Amino acid sequence: MKERRLVSLPNLKEAAKGRGLESSVRYEKVNLKPTSFLASWGQGKTFCIKTYGCQANVRDSEIIRSMLLALGMKEQDDFLGANFILFNTCAVRENAENHLYGELGRAKKQFDKDNETIIAICGCVMQEEFAVKHILKHFPFVSLIFGTNNLVEFYPLLQDCIQNDQFIVDVRSNSDLVPEGLPEDKTGRASSITAFVNIMYGCDKFCTYCIVPYTRGKERSRKMEDIIAEVKCLKEQGYKQVTLLGQNVDAYGKDFGDEYAFATLLEEVAKTGIPRVRFVTPYPSDFRTQVFDVMAKYDNIMPYMHLPVQSGSNSVLKRMNRRYTREQYLEIVHELKKRLPDVFLSTDIIVGFPNETEEEFQDTLSLVKEVGYDSAFTFIFSPRPGTPAARMKDEMSDEIKHKHFDQLKALIDELSTKRAETYPGKVVEVLFEKVSDKDSTRVSGYDRHNKLVHVKGDASLIGQIRKVRITESHTYSLIGELLDE
Ligand code: SAH
Ligand code: SF4
Ligand code: F3S
Repeated sequence: MKERRLVSLPNLKEAAKGRGLESSVRYEKVNLKPTSFLASWGQGKTFCIKTYGCQANVRDSEIIRSMLLALGMKEQDDFLGANFILFNTCAVRENAENHLYGELGRAKKQFDKDNETIIAICGCVMQEEFAVKHILKHFPFVSLIFGTNNLVEFYPLLQDCIQNDQFIVDVRSNSDLVPEGLPEDKTGRASSITAFVNIMYGCDKFCTYCIVPYTRGKERSRKMEDIIAEVKCLKEQGYKQVTLLGQNVDAYGKDFGDEYAFATLLEEVAKTGIPRVRFVTPYPSDFRTQVFDVMAKYDNIMPYMHLPVQSGSNSVLKRMNRRYTREQYLEIVHELKKRLPDVFLSTDIIVGFPNETEEEFQDTLSLVKEVGYDSAFTFIFSPRPGTPAARMKDEMSDEIKHKHFDQLKALIDELSTKRAETYPGKVVEVLFEKVSDKDSTRVSGYDRHNKLVHVKGDASLIGQIRKVRITESHTYSLIGELLDE
C-alpha cells in the first residue's frame, strides 16, 4: 500500500465561515511552467479525464487538460491503458456521487494491470471530508486528491506523486484566491467554436439544500480587464461564442463593492464583437434591470436566460433560503420580457423538498404555467450531508415525490412541445458546432434561443452562423434546411 500524505483535509464547517465579511480577495498571477522533470515524464504518456457536474467543472477540466497536453501527453477517451486518470467530481446530488464509486471500481482494473497508473480525483466531492475518508479507506490505489481551488498546485502535486509514490491528499480551502495566468487559449478547450469564461468563483447564497457554497468557497470576482482579455484572446482564435460562468453571475462585482458591475461587464464583453454572448447562472434577486437594458441593446447577447426558480411556493422558497418571493420572481420576469419580448426562459426546479405539501407543489405548477418556460431542468430533492435541508425532518413518501416529478415533467414537456410547434416555417440563425453523433450527414448547432437545430450538411459548416428554415419540430430539437447566403 502507498504511503499516505495528508497535506490538508477538507472541512465543510470551516468552509462556511467568513462569508459576507469585508472580503480579502487574493488576486494572484500564477506561473504554470512545468518542471523539466514533468516535461520529460509526460512525453509519450496518455491521460483520460472524466468530468461530472456543471460548467464550472467542465472549465476546470479544460484547464487541467491544457496542463497535461503541455507535458507532451496525449488524451484518450477510455481510461483503459491510460497512464493518468482524473475524475472531476460533482456533489450536487447523491447519484452523481455514487457514480464516482462505480467508476473507481472500474479504474481499479486498470491499476491492477499497471500499478504505475496514476489515479487522481478532484472536484466538489473532494471538498467533503467524509468522502475523502471513504476513498482513503476503500480505494487505496488512488494516488492524488485535490480540491476545487487547487488547480494552481496541480503540477507540483503530480510531480510529488510520481517521485514519491505516495497517496497525497491536498484540499486547501484557498477560498479567497482568484488566480490569473491559468491556460485560456484553445489548447485544452473542449470546443474550438464555443468557450466558457469564468467571471467569478464560489457562492455565498447558502440555499439550504445546496452543497456548492461549501465545495466552491466564497463568492469572488475576477477583474474585468482579465475577463475582457480572455474574451478578446478567444475571439482572435476564431471562437464564435463565449458563455460567462459563475454560480450567481449577477452578483459579479459585489465583492469589490460594485453591484452594477455585471451590466458593465456584459456590455464590455458584447463590445468586443464576439458573435455570441451567453451567461449562466443568474440569481433572481441579484438582478439589476440595467442588465436587461444591455441585453436589449446588443444583438450579440443572446435572447435567452436560464433563471432558476426552484419552487413557485413562497413557503418552500423560504425554507430553501431563496431570497425572493414568487411575486418578486414574476416581477423580474415581467421586467425582462418588457425589454426583451422575444426572450426564451429556462429554469431549475426542485420537487420533493422536505415536507412540500400538495398545495405548495400546485404553486410550482401554476408558476411554470404563468411564466411559460421554454425548457426546464427538474430535480428530486437529494439530501446533501452537511446542509441544513438534510437535517430537516421529512415525512413525504418517495412515491409522492416521484408522482410530483412526473407531473411537473409532463407539464414542462407540453410547454416545450407547444413552443417547438410554432417553429416550422420560421427562419432562425444557427451557430453550427458539430457533426451529429448518430448521423454523419447531419450537422447540429443552436439558434439564438438555444434551441438545438439539425440540418443536412458536412463538417465545413462547423463554426459558421447560418440562416436555416425550420421544417420539423420535436420537443427537444428542430430540423431545418440551410438557406443560401
Ligand atoms: N448556482 C446555480 C446552480 C446550482 S446547482 C443556481 O443557483 O441556480 C444546479 C441546480 O441543481 C440547482 O439550481 C438546483 O435546482 C439543483 N440542486 C442543487 N442542490 C440540490 C439538491 N440537494 N437536490 C436536488 N437538486 C439540487
Ligand atoms: Fe447552490 Fe443556491 Fe448557490 Fe445556486 S445560489 S449554487 S443553488 S447555494
Ligand atoms: Fe456539481 Fe460542484 Fe458544479 S457540486 S454542480 S460540480 S459546483
